[in-house]
Amino acid sequence: MQIGIDQLAFYTPKTYLDLVDLAHTRNQEPDKYRIGIGQSQQAVIPVTQDAVTLAANAAVKIVNTTNRDQIAMVLFGTESGIDNSKSAAVYLQRLLHLPGNIRTIELKQACYGATAGVQFAHDYVRLHPDKQVLVIGADIARYGLNTPGEVTQGGGAVAMTISAEPRLLNLDNETAFKSEDIMDFWRPLYRTEALVDGRFSENVYIDFFKAVWQDYQQQTGRAIADFTAFAFHLPFTKMGLKALRAILPEADETQQKQLMANFEASRVYNRQVGNLYTGSLYLSLRSLFDNATLKPGQRIGLFSYGSGAEGEFFSGTIGDQFDTQASRQWFTDFFGSRQQLTMAQYERVFSQKLPDHDVLLDLSHDDARFVLSGIKHDQRQYVDRGN
Ligand code: CAA
Repeated sequence: MQIGIDQLAFYTPKTYLDLVDLAHTRNQEPDKYRIGIGQSQQAVIPVTQDAVTLAANAAVKIVNTTNRDQIAMVLFGTESGIDNSKSAAVYLQRLLHLPGNIRTIELKQACYGATAGVQFAHDYVRLHPDKQVLVIGADIARYGLNTPGEVTQGGGAVAMTISAEPRLLNLDNETAFKSEDIMDFWRPLYRTEALVDGRFSENVYIDFFKAVWQDYQQQTGRAIADFTAFAFHLPFTKMGLKALRAILPEADETQQKQLMANFEASRVYNRQVGNLYTGSLYLSLRSLFDNATLKPGQRIGLFSYGSGAEGEFFSGTIGDQFDTQASRQWFTDFFGSRQQLTMAQYERVFSQKLPDHDVLLDLSHDDARFVLSGIKHDQRQYVDRGN
């Protein structure tokens, strides 16, 4: 029996910042951002969206009458949690009208949370092949105005269903992971922006990638020649390029060209959205699916990295019913209908924060189906405009 990713959907708001504007305002060379960092644009998330609404807007595309009653768990990976006690998944259960006899859990280990969800789901479906697990990666990446990390901000959500006989990706059973207490990136409870040791975090990412890649090869006997493409966690797309370059000499010249071309396909969407922490690897996988020429049976390698730190290398083969037409169309329409913000507008939206008292938010600038309309009695108020 094959188990893996059956559906993979994405959502981010339409408002974005062009990074050439950011470069000019911050007195940087635009090519530092476009080439040195590998980003062109970043999603700007309004105060009327949070991890829950981003997730609901992504998940509503893949949860419907055909699979709703099969969903046995919601595993919600996020590092932008809205409550220290209650999981974001339980809000999602209500917004999506999911059944009552399910588990609703939030998972946290920086950008690795959604991968924990995928792996736990894989194990669960093996025991319960008639069930599906909804896995979410939803975040808002914030470093602060005028910080080195500013160019690597962004946000959004991916939603995946993990099932038996999946259409998109059959996950292999073998996987290599590594964990170590490291202070490369963190966000204390009292902060809305992350703290990061930038260059150190890049080095730890590469060290973890090399370690788990080695471990995976030893476990499986597979080598780089067994892979058609790699998808990486992309906090900024140059990071994935650095990781790929670290192992590229293991491939012959023809394969190096193929891996580089597929890497370009895997960063098309991330380059325009920015970092979305837990969802980033899976947006890159979606980008690879939609922009490369792939065939059923081909093997993809995936590297997940969450600062602090946890890394995992795992793999899968393209499913027999692999079809990307609808997704490609959605992204074309989405990128064609986005609204570019000026620097002043971006700084205003970025600086808007939820107060710690009751508030009614102005929803007129947010066209999403699920929105945060305010706070009442210390409870976030969510609205589904689709009903
Ligand atoms: N043309 C082309 N390239 C240029 C250039 C130009 N005109 N000017 C500079 N560059 C290049 C530099 O040579 C450098 O390239 P290399 O990395 O290959 O050496 C690159 O642009 C970036 O330049 P700097 O290192 O000077 O950039 P910086 O000091 O401003 O910071 C950063 C870059 C460390 C990534 C910073 O943006 C940051 O801290 N980001 C957040 C942390 C992060 O994303 N870390 C990634 C690993 S952690 C993780 O993955 C988890 C997560 O999601 C956070």
